[in-house]
Amino acid sequence: MTSTESVQKAPAKDPWDLPDVSGLVVGVLGGTGDQGRGLAYRLARAGQKVIIGSRVAERAAAAAGELGRSVEGIEGADNAECARRSDIVIVAVPWDGHAKTLESLRAELVGKLVVDCVNPLGFDKKGAYALKPEEGSAAEQAAALLPESRVTAAFHHLSAVLLQDEAIEEIDTDVMVLGESRADTDLVQALAGRIPGMRGVFAGRLRNAHQVESLVANLISVNRRYKAHAGLRVTDV
Ligand SMILES: NC(=O)c1ccc[n+]([C@@H]2O[C@H](COP(=O)([O-])OP(=O)(O)OC[C@H]3O[C@@H](n4cnc5c(N)ncnc54)[C@H](OP(=O)(O)O)[C@@H]3O)[C@@H](O)[C@H]2O)c1
Repeated sequence: MTSTESVQKAPAKDPWDLPDVSGLVVGVLGGTGDQGRGLAYRLARAGQKVIIGSRVAERAAAAAGELGRSVEGIEGADNAECARRSDIVIVAVPWDGHAKTLESLRAELVGKLVVDCVNPLGFDKKGAYALKPEEGSAAEQAAALLPESRVTAAFHHLSAVLLQDEAIEEIDTDVMVLGESRADTDLVQALAGRIPGMRGVFAGRLRNAHQVESLVANLISVNRRYKAHAGLRVTDV
């Protein structure tokens, strides 16, 4: 090898060259709620195999049955079975139940790609405001509780109303994707990109998840003022 060859770098990877995730099973913890149900519906509609999770298997089966009237590929299971059988596990439970849910599923989530979309928010008469989790963010709490899982954060800014509206073909928004491993954030970006109109954009490491989670308080203000279901676009990328 000559000295010139030894300093040559591999060509930079195209950040939009994302993996094929179409064969992966996506589980949604708390998938009986608005956000989880909406994501499950959109992903199944895009052809993904989806398992809705619930604390009660019958509730998951009922939600899967309802969605199954309009899309194929959705099953229901209790949260533990959902986590065990899925390759990618989206956490869509309320902030109040976040830590307890993840602690109880630590074994099932070992090695799994976990996607946290939880926004720790408070509400008072002035509207929504961001809470400050001890760990920094919901995503960092998940990473602390699940040291053997691959924790990422995404899907915070979606409107569950739009996701669930069957008449809407495209969801016009970007999805900020955060995580520690580029391979994992690529997978989550690819998953977001399965939904027509949606694009996953890498937005940093988990230590910057707090701002992304908190921004939902601002979006709620936008929605109230303009009677909208606002999304976000990152320009020039
Ligand atoms: N709604 C949105 O537009 C939206 C958008 C982006 C992100 N998010 C985030 O997504 C998460 C879910 O939102 P959501 O509106 O779908 O909430 P939700 O309807 O209140 O809750 C979702 C599901 O979580 C389960 N659950 C409720 N309390 C729980 C607890 N203490 N422990 C464990 N599981 C519990 C319930 O399912 P089972 O009773 O069947 O177990 C419920 O159906 C939130 O953290 C929110 O910040 C929401």
